[in-house]
Amino acid sequence: MLKKKVAVLISGGGTNLQAIIDAEAKGIIKSAEVDLVISNKEHAFGLQRAEKSGIEHYYFNDENHMLDVIKKHNIDIIVLAGFLKILSKDFIKSFGGPIINIHPSLIPSFCGKGCYGIKVHQEALKYGVKVTGATVHYVNEIPDGGEIIAQKAVYIKDDDTPETLQKRVMEEAEWVLLPQAIEDISKKG
Ligand code: GRF
Repeated sequence: MLKKKVAVLISGGGTNLQAIIDAEAKGIIKSAEVDLVISNKEHAFGLQRAEKSGIEHYYFNDENHMLDVIKKHNIDIIVLAGFLKILSKDFIKSFGGPIINIHPSLIPSFCGKGCYGIKVHQEALKYGVKVTGATVHYVNEIPDGGEIIAQKAVYIKDDDTPETLQKRVMEEAEWVLLPQAIEDISKKG
């Protein structure tokens, strides 16, 4: 079966992108391949990760350019991995295929407009939840609002700081969930 062609959109360090690249190398992702990495931030370290892995990569801060290149590459699935821009309804409609996102909490907790990155973990600790985690979901025009695909729980420790919690949620949940979700969606055909 032909592998699904994946474009990964990033804005920062790209640790989730790296987890996807590593999962492909380890054979955890067998039904898909990352053909394209696009960042909306020019100096995102994730672009260097793409470079190092020989993956075609671009910096665009304009959705139309992103869409042009995505269509030229016949991309099947778009993966938002630490991508901090809200995609427009037009973009989502025009692409027409599945777009998935990783969010560092158990949606519907600690999500929505403006709640991303380290702020998610600050909110979780402030609220005093005992369990948090990560969610992979389909993207629609509502920030973190699409159908949930998978979730993984992470227990909070008494001495957690937002930084230690973010690191554990990334290591134990995000970097496991996202590659697995890509494989599960891709092998469905
Ligand atoms: C992290 O906070 C992660 O939880 C969220 O985006 C941020 C950056 O991720 N998904 P990455 O290292 O750029 O993948």
